[in-house]
Amino acid sequence: MAFLDRHKILETNATLLLVGSLLVVTVGGIVEITPLFYLQNTIETVDGMRPYSPLELQGREIYLREGCYVCHSQMIRPMRDEVERYGHYSLAAESMYDHPFQWGSKRTGPDLARVGGRYSDAWHVQHLTDPRSVVPESIMPPYAFLKDNLVDGRYIADLMSTNRLVGVPYTDEMIATAQADFTTQADPLGPGDTGALADRYPGAAMSNFDGAPGVSEMDALIAYLQVLGTMVDFSTFTPDPSR
Ligand code: HEC
Repeated sequence: MAFLDRHKILETNATLLLVGSLLVVTVGGIVEITPLFYLQNTIETVDGMRPYSPLELQGREIYLREGCYVCHSQMIRPMRDEVERYGHYSLAAESMYDHPFQWGSKRTGPDLARVGGRYSDAWHVQHLTDPRSVVPESIMPPYAFLKDNLVDGRYIADLMSTNRLVGVPYTDEMIATAQADFTTQADPLGPGDTGALADRYPGAAMSNFDGAPGVSEMDALIAYLQVLGTMVDFSTFTPDPSR
């Protein structure tokens, strides 16, 4: 009782309460924030993470432009129902080359963090062209026009340089070959050097994704969707227990 009475002094004096609150927040803040300055890294190091290939990066731009993030998240939380539905929970490292990250805050549609490889390219073309033709109850809007919009990768090297500015490790070589890699990934049977592309961007899906001539926004978007969540090999990944 005596303690509550003493607390009453604090609660009935606005100035005292304000000073007290500030003190508590300051101490709490220091305790939480200071250790971060002494950690080498707040992102775990994971094998397999690489920057997006030029075509995937272009696809990501289309994903942003079309606002796919309004309905789709890209972050699997470490809870059983999520992990059973979508796969291994997302690691911080998996979005370290995303500027800005696409974690999202709303799921009208499913999480897409690990959609890569789950469906064929043809399924994606069909689904993006007319979602209800494959999922009758879908409320996703159609994006058929993406197939008609051709892209030539003219600005992709610039975008990669900008990403490099904020820490994505694109090499000079990657930037110099950006436009060639861009075309080669969507036309692997063409004259481009697929071997060099595979060396630069291991695991990048190479295909004429939409089955039509030329590189379309549809090709780029599907190249991006097909790489999501596939860079880290979770059959060999072991979490670092010190974190
Ligand atoms: C209005 C909300 C909405 C928007 C915007 C939207 N989607 Fe969807 N999306 C959905 C819904 C709902 C589903 C689940 C039904 C279905 O498969 O169509 C879905 C399903 C998907 C799937 C299948 C996922 C799975 O695991 O089965 C993919 C891939 C996808 N969307 C990609 C996209 C892309 C790429 C964009 C942007 C070009 C986009 N979506 C925009 C609502 C949306």
